[in-house]
Amino acid sequence: MPHEVRGVVARAKGQPVSTETVLVPDPGPGEALVRVQACGVCHTDVHYREGGINDDFPFLLGHEAAGVVESVGDDVTDVTPGDFVVLNWRAVCGLCRACRKGKPWYCFDTHNAVQRMTLADGTELSPALGIGAFVEKTLVASGQCTKVDPAAPATAAGLLGCGVMAGFGAAVNTGAVGRGDSIAVIGCGGVGSAAVAGARVAGATTIIAVDVDERKLEWARRFGATDTVHAGQEDVVERVRELTGGFGADVVVEAVGRPETYEQAFYARDLAGTVVLVGVPTPELTVTLPMIDLFGRGGALKSSWYGDCLPSRDFPLLIDLYRQGRFDLDGFVSETIALDDVEEAFAKMHRGDVLRSVVVL
Ligand SMILES: NC(=O)c1ccc[n+]([C@@H]2O[C@H](COP(=O)([O-])OP(=O)(O)OC[C@H]3O[C@@H](n4cnc5c(N)ncnc54)[C@H](O)[C@@H]3O)[C@@H](O)[C@H]2O)c1
Ligand SMILES: [Zn+2]
Ligand SMILES: [Zn+2]
Repeated sequence: MPHEVRGVVARAKGQPVSTETVLVPDPGPGEALVRVQACGVCHTDVHYREGGINDDFPFLLGHEAAGVVESVGDDVTDVTPGDFVVLNWRAVCGLCRACRKGKPWYCFDTHNAVQRMTLADGTELSPALGIGAFVEKTLVASGQCTKVDPAAPATAAGLLGCGVMAGFGAAVNTGAVGRGDSIAVIGCGGVGSAAVAGARVAGATTIIAVDVDERKLEWARRFGATDTVHAGQEDVVERVRELTGGFGADVVVEAVGRPETYEQAFYARDLAGTVVLVGVPTPELTVTLPMIDLFGRGGALKSSWYGDCLPSRDFPLLIDLYRQGRFDLDGFVSETIALDDVEEAFAKMHRGDVLRSVVVL
């Protein structure tokens, strides 16, 4: 018997989301049914609603979540009912060409549930990032459940499932920022702030937060920014160079996903420095750069999918840092809301009122 629960669905491009009845099958082989306790509202959910990811409407939104495993399919051994888990969208397959090369953080064949959750009339839902967690119970591949210490509350732990991990990993894994390095982070929402926090943990000594919103800059300082640049009032490239001895930062993380901020990132980094694009652009955007600068400035232009994380390695690590008081996960939770408030939370995100609104179930 499918479980009849409530979930947040985007039915059509650009339309407000609605809370609908969702039917969730019992877990089959390789699957786990998870009772969601908390799920953060990420900018990527808005991208889905706006048709910016693909056209597979209707979407079951929500993907940065923590909860408790309720039941598992017959053959599942990696998690058991009662486990406190953070959901991930990188259930490493172990078999694809990336995994076989020993780079599972790129896994090209990550697992999702095989059975589909549906609307009451049987319409199949496309779960956001293969998760779909603005819902009382969700069905995922068991490998999408990463068991963690319940020391961190679900509201905070769930954020590891996407934005916080993506930002932290963009700086630390993809950008490989380290002791004594300088870093600039352009766009300090949930993702960018996590990059700032990650850079502090990694020992960066100059951490420059860039945003158009004064509140974001203030919050970024709390996460460890040593300097801030107001992109609406100052020349970003010039200011980052000034703050780094005239040279530019060793690593620049772009956490907006726009051509103009990407270009700033490109020129705000030192010669042979690294640009990390973690912001997700929409399909129509293009970047034009002088080829001589691509060559002459050297270094690396990287993209960061999910912070190049390995959930089994990185989620427990970040919970440990949280327990040690070195990583303020709670600081990302601006407010807790109900399922019916997700559309309003999108508006708050656009106004810049929040780092993360977190749905509590
Ligand atoms: N690569 C990944 O794996 C991954 C994972 C999660 C989210 N993302 C993406 O990361 C991006 C950020 O997500 P978020 O949840 O933090 O969103 P957000 O809306 O909370 O943050 C975006 C920030 O950028 C700032 N901003 C906007 N225009 C700017 C400009 N011109 N200069 C400087 N700052 C500017 C905003 O004020 C805001 O603080 C999104 O594109 C999201 O889709 C990527
Ligand atoms: Zn793989
Ligand atoms: Zn996300």
